Amino acid sequence: MYEPAGPAETRDFARAVRSGLVQPQKVIPARYFYDEAGSRLFEAITELPEYYPTRTETALLAQHAGTIAATVGPGRAVIEYGSGSSTKTPLLLTPLHAAAYVPVDISGDFLAQSAAALAAHFPGLPIHPVVADFTQNFRLPAGIAALPRMGFFPGSTLGNLAPMAAIDLLRGFAALLGPGSWLVIGLDLAPGPGKSVATLEAAYDDAAGVTAAFNLNLLHRINRELAATVCIDDFAHRATWNATLGRIEMHLVARRDTQFTAAGQQVSMKAGETIHTENSYKWTLPESRLMARASGWVPVADWTDPEQRFAVHLWQHNDGAMQP
Ligand code: TRP
Repeated sequence: MYEPAGPAETRDFARAVRSGLVQPQKVIPARYFYDEAGSRLFEAITELPEYYPTRTETALLAQHAGTIAATVGPGRAVIEYGSGSSTKTPLLLTPLHAAAYVPVDISGDFLAQSAAALAAHFPGLPIHPVVADFTQNFRLPAGIAALPRMGFFPGSTLGNLAPMAAIDLLRGFAALLGPGSWLVIGLDLAPGPGKSVATLEAAYDDAAGVTAAFNLNLLHRINRELAATVCIDDFAHRATWNATLGRIEMHLVARRDTQFTAAGQQVSMKAGETIHTENSYKWTLPESRLMARASGWVPVADWTDPEQRFAVHLWQHNDGAMQP
């Protein structure tokens, strides 16, 4: 069997690709988007006119960070899940008077650069970057053992997990952050009166083709890292709203019959067949609050923009919280 030399991450990738491409509906888990090229393309997505979540969430955080800080109090370690470029972080760190910052990201190179950039803006702040897949167990750095905690999980990243996995992850956060902790979480909202399905779909299929490049980069990564022979031109990007399941789905669609080898696996696909690469679930406010309660958190406050596109939530660990 094909076993790539090199880091454990590459071996996991090989295993995921091998097992994902022999299923009836081919699938590759979304976390493999984020090699360095993928992380950079994702940053470009966040600046697209169609991709409303980033600017909407940033505005909500800027507007409500003072209230959040007044509620949770100063001197906390802020643990950010999937920190990426850490662009939204200063909005919270400044009013919070945080005692430490722990960015957690799967892309090690990118994490080191972002942590260095943030350190330049917050010279006195201890920063402890953790390279990890936050859906797996990982340890918090020893340096923050004595500090009260606040989790920060922006970008509607939770929506990239199916409901049961989302609840498991939130439960894991509650266990890791512990009694007395808080969580600030950004979640994209389901379509409604102020938000059409077209708005939602355009956010995942922009006119400039950046999201398409992001999706297709996964195939480039497979070729680069897994000695694969995918003809990239045989594939196209597709993003559609699945109303039944309440999610945007991203697929790589075969434009014609195609064959390739990846991670030692022979794969052949018919024209129109797809590799499912990403889900982005969208939640109403009541659904989000129910998810909090189901996973060890108490929903304390939430804020939305006037069009009700996006929500920022403040949750408190349910151990010792006043049950409202
Ligand atoms: N979690 C964000 C979202 O679902 C970011 C994201 C993940 C994303 N994968 C993506 C954005 C693919 C665009 C395309 O919106």
